[in-house]
Amino acid sequence: MTTDIDRAVALIRSRTDRSYAVGLVLGSGLGRVADLVVDPVRIAYEDVPGFPVSKVSAHKNELIAGIIEGVPVVVLSGRAHYFETGDAGIMRNPIGTLKALGCDTLLLTNAAGSLKTEVGPGEIMLVTDHINLTGRNPLIGEPTDARFVGMTGAYDAGIRAALLGAAEREGVAMSTGVYMWFSGPSFETPAEIRMARFAGANAVGMSTVPEVILGRFFGLRCAAISTITNFAAGMTGAELSHDETKRLAPIGAAKLERVIRRYLRDRRRS
Ligand code: HPA
Repeated sequence: MTTDIDRAVALIRSRTDRSYAVGLVLGSGLGRVADLVVDPVRIAYEDVPGFPVSKVSAHKNELIAGIIEGVPVVVLSGRAHYFETGDAGIMRNPIGTLKALGCDTLLLTNAAGSLKTEVGPGEIMLVTDHINLTGRNPLIGEPTDARFVGMTGAYDAGIRAALLGAAEREGVAMSTGVYMWFSGPSFETPAEIRMARFAGANAVGMSTVPEVILGRFFGLRCAAISTITNFAAGMTGAELSHDETKRLAPIGAAKLERVIRRYLRDRRRS
């Protein structure tokens, strides 16, 4: 049976025959990283079979395949979220497509609210683990035993070490912490943030967790970096907004860009 992933790969393969190594998913306001791609093949999601188009502003909805720092990468500029349709598996086809194009690594980025007073807007945080608060899972309904995906080492230790090393060599301060997935689209309440802190979360956001689960399902090594756009609800008294997310994400994006570039350069050399 031909699947949407097969059809997506066929379309992309009609434009490029390169073997890709790293899939990069760009979150809200982080689209500038896509500008690093050399020799790009650009395809709008709406033209790729099975690719969901995000209606969230500040998401470009474009696949860009090419080279960054000598490494063949497929950049997904923009992602669809669970809250857009109620489908936790909304990113299944794009992630499966990355794997089918040869990627072994999935590097995800997102905008997030910080629970750490010492990590504020404009900072970046390497995700060490996650808490899935939503009770939703992209593998619900998957009929095979492949659904029982181990999540103990979901955030790959080797890639994390490489990213931390890259940040250090770039002179970029990158904290580490646990990311908690809230469904959104409303932001959290102060009481929910107090609970999140008590439960061990360091940042909160509306994405990434289902994609990491899907990434592990497809056998990809996963890593994620959050760009902090705000202190989480109740920490400052200010109301949260998507406008703030869009305004502040590009500040962290500049740091993110340096870390990703250095990581890819180091990876090429090793
Ligand atoms: N909560 C959830 N998602 C977010 C936040 C937040 O505070 N900031 C950016 N994305």
